[in-house]
Amino acid sequence: MYILAIESSCDETSVSIIKDGYEEIATIVLTQIDIHKLFGGVVPEVASRHHIENITIVLEEALKKANMTMDEIDAIAVTYGPGLIGSLLIGVQAAKTLAYIHHKPLIPVHHIAGHIYANRLVEEMKFPLLALVVSGGHTELIYMKEDYSFQKIGGTLDDAVGEAYDKVARVIGLPYPGGPAVDQLAHQGKDTYDLPIPLDDDTYDFSFSGLKSAVINLVHNEQQRGHEIRKEDLACSFQNSVVEILTKKTMKALKEYQVNRLIVAGGVAANKGLREKLQEQCQKEQIHLVIPPMKYCTDNAAMIGAAAYYAYQKGKIADLSLNAKATGELKYEKVSNSSS
Ligand code: KG4
Ligand code: ZN
Repeated sequence: MYILAIESSCDETSVSIIKDGYEEIATIVLTQIDIHKLFGGVVPEVASRHHIENITIVLEEALKKANMTMDEIDAIAVTYGPGLIGSLLIGVQAAKTLAYIHHKPLIPVHHIAGHIYANRLVEEMKFPLLALVVSGGHTELIYMKEDYSFQKIGGTLDDAVGEAYDKVARVIGLPYPGGPAVDQLAHQGKDTYDLPIPLDDDTYDFSFSGLKSAVINLVHNEQQRGHEIRKEDLACSFQNSVVEILTKKTMKALKEYQVNRLIVAGGVAANKGLREKLQEQCQKEQIHLVIPPMKYCTDNAAMIGAAAYYAYQKGKIADLSLNAKATGELKYEKVSNSSS
């Protein structure tokens, strides 16, 4: 089954053709990072305008790269949410148009299901498993007892981890997106600043706004005193606090839910510090760990095409009333005609 998938939830316009949920035939990702860098973050209105300009180009490129025509495509998949509403609408409208013109089924995919299924492009997913979802908009621990079944066991109470990275980066003068820059700097520094380990309790929830504020206050206080900030050390101390709590709660959940498989998903899965610590801990506890390669960690349509194959198996097909949704949890939804 060849699925043509579209992703446009934030600042990447992407189209991919995926065979049977795991084989990548062709993927094109057009990122707007250089445009949003000028503003220090994603500007929603600017993002949607660029999606409009890019969507047909990306679509044509993907088909050309795959050496395929629309006749050979079996279904159209699209991220319907969550994300920036103006950006999502471009992808959803394009997908509905293609499905209508070419008489193909339309498969709605939740963005986080996509991030999780990026792992299917790496290897077969065996269940039960635990997914740690860490991105610019999400920080969640999700238990999966089978394909396309999602039980959230914890999540952030405020900022997402990627969001905290981006804000910390900004206050220490690093360009957008801050995550990769902070990660790189952290590896050159030492953990010398005393920062809190956020929400270090018995729940599986996370909170990153306190840690973010602690960094911001520290920077302002040092500036007022005329002291120089050791950026590498501050990045290292911040990253250690983040990695410590993410790893601690994930390992605890694996134990409590008696799961020996862990997958990591989302943009922050690209973080070197997090990857290293999880690898070390999982090896110790004999947990099978899968982290997608960098290109599948950040937003792309290949992961949407992989998730769509399993969504389709569960009967998740939308009609042309499908609408984009800016918010909404990933949950197991019973078979229905149109997805919400
Ligand atoms: O998954 P993604 O592409 O978009 C969302 O769905 O949110 O994630 C983007 C986020 C940004 O906040 C970015 O700073 C962060 O992932 N990120 C990282 C790294 N690479 C990307 N954060 C920490 N370390 C990294 N190496
Ligand atoms: Zn994402």
